[in-house]
Amino acid sequence: MLVAVVPASPRTAQETIRALLETDQLTAPVGVRAIYRDLAKVPPAFRAHAGFQAVAGDLSDAEALDLGGADTVFAITPPRHDGSDMMQWATVASENTRRAIQRAGSVKRLVLLSSMGAEHASGTGEIQTNHIAEEILKDVVPEVIFMRGAYFMENWASAIATVQSEPPHLYSPITPVDYEIPMVAVTDVGKACATYLMAVDIPKHPFVIEVQGPREYAVKDVQNAFAEAAGHAVEVRPVAKADLATFFGQFLPEASVGPFVEMTLSFLPGGFLAQNAGNASPDRVYRGRTELAEAIGRMYNLG
Ligand SMILES: NC(=O)c1ccc[n+]([C@@H]2O[C@H](COP(=O)([O-])OP(=O)(O)OC[C@H]3O[C@@H](n4cnc5c(N)ncnc54)[C@H](OP(=O)(O)O)[C@@H]3O)[C@@H](O)[C@H]2O)c1
Repeated sequence: MLVAVVPASPRTAQETIRALLETDQLTAPVGVRAIYRDLAKVPPAFRAHAGFQAVAGDLSDAEALDLGGADTVFAITPPRHDGSDMMQWATVASENTRRAIQRAGSVKRLVLLSSMGAEHASGTGEIQTNHIAEEILKDVVPEVIFMRGAYFMENWASAIATVQSEPPHLYSPITPVDYEIPMVAVTDVGKACATYLMAVDIPKHPFVIEVQGPREYAVKDVQNAFAEAAGHAVEVRPVAKADLATFFGQFLPEASVGPFVEMTLSFLPGGFLAQNAGNASPDRVYRGRTELAEAIGRMYNLG
C-alpha cells in the first residue's frame, strides 16, 4: 500500500509516518509518499528508509499536490498563524486536498486528523477549522475516517521556558487547576492514525474515532509532571477567563486570538463543548498509553 501524507512536516504527521515505517506488515510493505513545502525539513531517519519518498508540495497550491498513485491519504489541516483568516485558510487547504485526491484517481481511503468538537459548526473557535475540513472531505473517497484528537500534551511545551526561570512557574489557560480534560500525546495520535490508515475493514463512513490518552488530566497533573521533570517545585499561575485574550495575544497574531479564546472557553466548565460533551458519540475511542508525566518528561529533557 502507498500512503500519501499531506502535509508531512506537522509533528502529528511525523509521528504517523514513524509508526507506518515501523509497522510489521505481513502481506505487503507500507510505502509513504510525504509532501513537504520545504524538503530541507525531511528527518534523516525517514530518508534512510526504503519505503519512504519525500516530494515537494504546498497546500496553498492544489496543482502542486501530486499524490502519485497513492491508495490511502493522511490529511492534516495545518494551523496558520500569519495574521490571515484561519477559517478561510482551512477552506482553501481542504479544497486543495480534495482536488488533489480527485485528480490522483487512485485513492480509496482518507484518514483526516481532526479535533474533538469538530462535529459543531460554531461555538468552538479554532476547532472550527477541523469542522470545515471534515465537511469538505467527508465524501471525497469511499472510505473516510475522522481522527478527533483530544488536547495535545505537547501543547505544554511552551511552559518549559518559565519552568526553567526563577521562580519556576507555568501559566495555565485551563482553569480551575483541578478541572480534568482529555489529553493525548502526539506519539499516540501518530499510532492511532497509522492504525486506521492500515485497518482492513471499517464498518461505516465517515467513521469517527476520538483519540485520547489513558485518562483525563488536570493542570495539577501538569504541574506535578513538570516538577518531577525539573526536580523542583513549580508554581501554577492560572489565567482568568477575562485575561485569555491578553494571554494568547502575547504569542499569536490578532486574527488568531479570538478563535483561541473561544476554543478555550468552549471546553472550560460551563462552556459550549463542556456542556455538550455527553452528546458527542464517536464510533470508537482510541486510548493511547502515554501518560502525561512521560510526555512532559520527554519534552522537558529534549528542550
Ligand atoms: N494542538 C492540539 O491540542 C490539537 C488537538 C486536536 C487536534 N489538533 C489539530 O491538529 C492539527 C495540527 O497538527 P500539528 O500540531 O501536528 O501541527 P503543527 O506541528 O503545528 O504543524 C504545523 C505545520 O504545518 C505545516 N504547514 C503550514 N502551512 C502549510 C502549507 N501551506 N503547506 C504545507 N504545510 C504547511 C508547517 O510546515 P513547515 O514545517 O513547512 O513550516 C508546519 O510544520 C490541526 O489541524 C489542529 O486543529 C490539535
